[in-house]
Amino acid sequence: MNKWDDFVRACSSCNKCGLYQNRRNVVIGRGLVKQVPILFVGEGPGEQEDIKGEAFVGRAGKLLDLLLDAMEIKPEDYYITNVVKCRPPNNRIPTKDEVDACIPWLRYQFSAIKPSIVVCLGSTAAKALIDNDVKITEIRGNWIDKQGKILIMPTYHPAAVLRDNGKRADFYLDVKKVRDRLFQMTSG
Ligand code: URA
Repeated sequence: MNKWDDFVRACSSCNKCGLYQNRRNVVIGRGLVKQVPILFVGEGPGEQEDIKGEAFVGRAGKLLDLLLDAMEIKPEDYYITNVVKCRPPNNRIPTKDEVDACIPWLRYQFSAIKPSIVVCLGSTAAKALIDNDVKITEIRGNWIDKQGKILIMPTYHPAAVLRDNGKRADFYLDVKKVRDRLFQMTSG
């Protein structure tokens, strides 16, 4: 039994906020459970994720996968998770209380994965990980250095890109910055 298994068991039976009442599955994340350079953080599971128990497996996830593949960011380079691990009803934005209740699980994931780069996908992740008052449209595309240990790249949520094609070019540019940094890091 390792610590990650203990975490998964505890997280899967969590009832620290009301979201547990309607969930089909707790969605821990997606990816290999080991230290990887990049952690992507979304908002919360949608319908497909709730059904399948895996993060970003619906339309937004497919867009992200296509982009990562095109940029040669490989599955072994990243882990992908969400701020809240249970689906908010009708995909509403999780409340501050729900985020606060769930954040210790994300903290544990940070400590296990030890990412050098964190990509905030959308406003909920940016507010939870950077500052509650940030506006994603103002800060996206700019690296934020967190205590010299982690670089954070805030960008749009892929679901927002699907809704508004005008965000697509910026989203691609932001992920390209992540790719360039990853390649710099891995080429020594
Ligand atoms: N949107 C998210 O924020 N996370 C998912 O896992 C799916 C859609």
